[in-house]
Amino acid sequence: MSVLEVRDLVVEYSTVYGVLRAINHLSFEVGEAESVGVVGESGSGKSTLGLSVVRLLPPNARYAGGSIILDGQEVTRMSNSEARRIRGTTAFMIFQDPLNSLNPVKKVSTQLLEAVEMRCKKLGETYDVEKATREVVEKIRDVRIPDPELIMERYPHQLSGGQIQRVIIAMALLMRPKLLIADEPTSALDVTIQAQVLKLMNDLKKEYGMSIMLITHDISVAYNISDRIMVMYAGELVELGSADGVIRSPMHPYAKALIASIPRGVMRDAPLEPIRGSPPNMIHPPSGCRFHPRCPFVMDVCRREEPREVHQDARVVRCYLYG
Ligand SMILES: Nc1ncnc2c1ncn2[C@@H]1O[C@H](COP(=O)(O)OP(=O)(O)O)[C@@H](O)[C@H]1O
Ligand SMILES: [Mg+2]
Repeated sequence: MSVLEVRDLVVEYSTVYGVLRAINHLSFEVGEAESVGVVGESGSGKSTLGLSVVRLLPPNARYAGGSIILDGQEVTRMSNSEARRIRGTTAFMIFQDPLNSLNPVKKVSTQLLEAVEMRCKKLGETYDVEKATREVVEKIRDVRIPDPELIMERYPHQLSGGQIQRVIIAMALLMRPKLLIADEPTSALDVTIQAQVLKLMNDLKKEYGMSIMLITHDISVAYNISDRIMVMYAGELVELGSADGVIRSPMHPYAKALIASIPRGVMRDAPLEPIRGSPPNMIHPPSGCRFHPRCPFVMDVCRREEPREVHQDARVVRCYLYG
């Protein structure tokens, strides 16, 4: 069974310039203990997708079609109180700016104990402070923070960005969610800390068998952690397949361009070769295939009609070059 099943999802923002469709008929799933990397340029709808799953869309957004089944429950039609109940314990979302995820006026220990308490409530376990404290210390060790007792007494502003992100990962482990959604979890960190946090997520994925949806603009980051990769362009799925398959033999011209822009060698922070053309206007998106104005292989049909999903073995691609 899938932990997350997104079917034909449409999400729209109302803006002063008109309706902006940030997610357009998107379908995919995340299986038990599977990690799926969601990749695309800035503005492709990745964060909107994450927020849709945990029901944290801003007030000017609305679900305009389709469904999101999270652990067997339909998210788009939940009441706010039901949504609060699943948030954290069923799907836990890690944000790019980790400081916003913690309460600034509560000590780390208080916040981590609250996480255990929430889980106990959800799973019907009895909450015992001493037992919970031991569990918290153990999880802080699990996320490779050397002095758990010291960190527990601190307030969020007394921690470094890397430490905060680790504390939040510890919080996620304490809540034992079915699905961990991480939205650019390492983008705000410097390069060495980035690599450490990615390695940690990878270790924990193996150790805990959690399902993960990793959102990133950096396809090489996704490759490090993901079993499968979904490439999005302008709110749409353009390619989905095994991480190996997509990286080694991308099919969609946009996926090809993304992979060609990965810097070679060890210079991970070397400037990327940008993909030609500019990102689409999302209020008046291009007709036909949304990528056609930037596509080196564009054909007449691409300008006229939206491509349908072509399924080849375990690969999905939306492009007239196939099928
Ligand atoms: N609160 C908002 N109001 C209006 N438009 C938004 C809002 N948030 C995001 N968008 C628009 O939705 C599209 C997708 O954005 P986003 O999901 O943040 O993409 P990504 O995370 O891939 O960078 C973009 O065109 C963005 O400008
Ligand atoms: Mg984003």
